[in-house]
Amino acid sequence: MAARSSAEISSILRQQIENFDQVVETTNVGTVIDIGDGIAHIWGLSDAQAMELLEFPNQVMGLAFNLEEDTVGAMIFGDGSLIAEGDEVRCTGRVMEVPVGDGLLGRVIDALGRPLDGKGPIVSDKTRPIEKIAHGVIYRQPVTTPVQTGIKALDSMIPIGRGQRELIIGDRQTGKTAIAIDTIINQKGGNLFCIYVAIGQKASQVANIVETLDRAGALAYTVVVAATAADPAPMQYIAPYAGCAIGEEIMESGRDALVVYDDLTKHAWAYRQVSLLLRRPAGREAYPGDVFYCHSRLLERAARLRDDQGGGSLTALPIIETQGNDVSGYIPTNVISITDGQIYLESDLFYAGIRPALNVGISVSRVGGAAQTRAMRQVAGRLKLDLAQFRELAAFSQIGSDLDRATRAQLERGMRIQEVLKQPQYHPVPLAQQVLTLWAVTNGYLDEVPIDKARAWEDAFQGYMERSHPQVAQAIATDKQISDSTLEALRAAAEQFKNEGARAIA
Ligand SMILES: Nc1ncnc2c1ncn2[C@@H]1O[C@H](COP(=O)(O)OP(=O)(O)O)[C@@H](O)[C@H]1O
Ligand SMILES: [Mg+2]
Repeated sequence: MAARSSAEISSILRQQIENFDQVVETTNVGTVIDIGDGIAHIWGLSDAQAMELLEFPNQVMGLAFNLEEDTVGAMIFGDGSLIAEGDEVRCTGRVMEVPVGDGLLGRVIDALGRPLDGKGPIVSDKTRPIEKIAHGVIYRQPVTTPVQTGIKALDSMIPIGRGQRELIIGDRQTGKTAIAIDTIINQKGGNLFCIYVAIGQKASQVANIVETLDRAGALAYTVVVAATAADPAPMQYIAPYAGCAIGEEIMESGRDALVVYDDLTKHAWAYRQVSLLLRRPAGREAYPGDVFYCHSRLLERAARLRDDQGGGSLTALPIIETQGNDVSGYIPTNVISITDGQIYLESDLFYAGIRPALNVGISVSRVGGAAQTRAMRQVAGRLKLDLAQFRELAAFSQIGSDLDRATRAQLERGMRIQEVLKQPQYHPVPLAQQVLTLWAVTNGYLDEVPIDKARAWEDAFQGYMERSHPQVAQAIATDKQISDSTLEALRAAAEQFKNEGARAIA
């Protein structure tokens, strides 16, 4: 018998080596190599898909995030201390989902949809993946319906439309959250459902917001998704996607929803932390290279669907916190470039008592103008330009040069416009009342009123219109425009009020 050739032997050996690792099944089951800071590395799991839900012992769940040659990097949701090196991990074949539906309204939940408000289990028979590709252009239609914020300066000059993405940007303590919360409160009695996503805020702050919404009767149509500063970075990272999924469900049911992401600066920090722990290559400012994509794919999910798709909408109000009014940072510029407009808030204005601290010159809404009601357009057409010019003029006139009459008149008018656009928190103003005030000030009815009395005058005027000429505001509210006959009635009423107004504020 001839000896086996060396080629034959090596082929048998090769076969055995190739089949060697099939003894242990590594496709759907893996082993924890290391764990900490909400991140685990797992050996095996070669069948895991990106963003697949993983099952750890003790009911801890994870998300496959980094797929490498032999290992998988995963985010951990739950108590990481219950997991040890060597523990078994299984694929589930599912992606990450949150409960959705109307049972969530009035509730406070974490990023996984678990209740945080002690009001019992969440009633929901439906879930949605937290990540989804945004609706393509063919499913969308132009934005034509306004989101009434109830804030005079915004509804008149920076109107937001349903389906739009409008960024609220400014330093800390400039009233960013206040604008978002007031907008939610103003939806009372309307048909816009709200989702407020708190990312990386102090738990006490979130509790305050929930209580404010509750007291204002706004919680009934609102879902609060909270991932506070005390929550692990993975929870903060997925929170906005979860909130977005809840909003998308409302949109796809043919209704309108508004989602606030407060704030995406802290979301970017959470994503940076997760990425560094997963040893992803760091780019500028140590952010991962795809931090831009992580925000754009979130904001792209805001849309106004076509009527044959149900006609629903999802409006997004992302918030970015800047430092030293620097809007040219990496994260701010990214988010500015993927939104349809920005509301710039400034500390200088805030401390000067101009609240909301809106910088009119650089704030814009690129699509909302088309959604503004005609009545508002009739009175606010030139407001933005006038106010921006006034602020420039006011800065210039401080130098103390002699002013000609026209300039002085422009300054006086501007000061009164600025004054009536000031608005305290939690006092949303309905559209018709906003129109009355703006009409009065732009038509010179406040020119004789002392500056420090302008707001008292406004209150008196509103009271007078409600008592003596309620039909004017009613007509504006129902017609959504100022018809010729309404204009006549308004002018006559304002003339009559001249004397009464002077007495009211004396
Ligand atoms: N329009 C306003 N009028 C008066 N106070 C306001 C107004 N908007 C906000 N504030 C107050 O200013 C502070 C900062 O507001 P907040 O919305 O929390 O700022 P940010 O979210 O930008 O840090 C809060 O104490 C808030 O009550
Ligand atoms: Mg805030």
